[in-house]
Amino acid sequence: MATGNSKAKWKQSVEAEAATQLQKTQVTLQYEGKATEQTVLATPPAECALLWPEDNPGLNRLYYGDNLAILAALQYDPAIRGKVKLIYIDPPFATNSVFQSRSQTDAYQDLLIGANYIEFIRRRLILLRELLADDGSIYIHLDENMAFHIKVVMDEVFGTRNFRNWITRRKCSHKNYTKKRYGNISDYILFYTKSDTYVWNRSVETWTVERARKEYTCVEAGTGRRYKKVPVHAPGVRNGETGQLWRGMAPPPGKHWQYPPKTLDAMDARGEIYWSPTGNPRRKIYLDASAGVPVQDIWYDFRDDRNQNVLITGYPTEKNPEMLERIIQASSNPGDIVLDCFSGSGTTLAVAESMGRRWIGIDNSPEAITTTLRRFFQGTERMGDYVNRPKEIGTNTGAQTTMLALLDADATEASPPTARYQPFSIYADARETAQMRTLIQPWILSDAE
Ligand SMILES: C[S@@+](CC[C@H](N)C(=O)[O-])C[C@H]1O[C@@H](n2cnc3c(N)ncnc32)[C@H](O)[C@@H]1O
Repeated sequence: MATGNSKAKWKQSVEAEAATQLQKTQVTLQYEGKATEQTVLATPPAECALLWPEDNPGLNRLYYGDNLAILAALQYDPAIRGKVKLIYIDPPFATNSVFQSRSQTDAYQDLLIGANYIEFIRRRLILLRELLADDGSIYIHLDENMAFHIKVVMDEVFGTRNFRNWITRRKCSHKNYTKKRYGNISDYILFYTKSDTYVWNRSVETWTVERARKEYTCVEAGTGRRYKKVPVHAPGVRNGETGQLWRGMAPPPGKHWQYPPKTLDAMDARGEIYWSPTGNPRRKIYLDASAGVPVQDIWYDFRDDRNQNVLITGYPTEKNPEMLERIIQASSNPGDIVLDCFSGSGTTLAVAESMGRRWIGIDNSPEAITTTLRRFFQGTERMGDYVNRPKEIGTNTGAQTTMLALLDADATEASPPTARYQPFSIYADARETAQMRTLIQPWILSDAE
């Protein structure tokens, strides 16, 4: 591991070779049609019409329309600008394809490629940055096509120092590939924050007996507590207390004690130091003191097509809700606003809702909006039961399909609806209101009929 001392030595030699100015120059992506940030921030905002409920907007919002103009409008909303704690987006991946739902309905197109795609994403990222709280986080889900380009753009927009992780997700089971290359089973999530101070609830996985035994190999005589041994020293030379002799022993060359000698004495008195037969001290780390296995940046457990029992909406490329649960748990707290402006079937929104977060979803696909309403009011279906045709609106249990009408007719602040979900408001870019009204009409009418 590098130490302050040796890094300084190497830095001198680097500076001798490189022009300091160049070292400090931001690496940027250049392409034709790249707008200035100023131009992007001046994007004409959509006029957003509240379609439902007409007089009592809820905390959560579902928007229909192009997210560029809607994000531009949200910049001027004091309840939202600088208040969004978490953004997760799963935009098109520049696949040059059109995606259909399981019911064979066109869901969305993914036809922008190259610089057009990069600029499409960049403009939205600039506007999203304005909405993000100072202690907020943004996750963008991509595949190998454009992840590298968008990483550079994210560095430009959010700053390299705010890059946190490049997460690799196993997206599906292994394939019997016939192409002359390795099977492609991963996609990527880039995690950035707005600043150095951000919401972070460390994710841990529970220990399995097998994994715990493998890692915590020792059992303490007397207590039976399982533990592992780790060094009591750390890299780097220190001149203070941690660089002094402890029990007559100096820290190994180039190292310092992890704690001052007084603390080490106290730890030893509590039996937390293991002494090897040759007199080498090691620190004991107990399994029962571990909250779990800290989550790393490769995620194996969140495949989208897990098994036939998994509950789905049938929307193409819908993401694994448990993956969203991990992200929302780690980077937000109950009551925080979570935003997804490529919300598709509403996975982020439904998970945010179930975890007590407020949410904003935006999508410009009628099929996405219909699917989101269906997800909220009729639920999801087992993948194995999916019959190529979603349930008709109104054919499910009355209680669920009539919820929009119930909320619309009866809910007041004093007497909130007894619904499974908090009320949410439906908005549309004013240019799209006619179509959005058509999309929500069946849900509102189903109760009245
Ligand atoms: C990959 S899908 C998102 C799937 C989603 N994560 C889920 O779990 O269902 C991308 C979504 O972005 C939407 N989209 C693409 N361009 C958009 C735009 N300019 N404005 C709003 N939504 C857009 C598409 O309609 C599509 O639903």
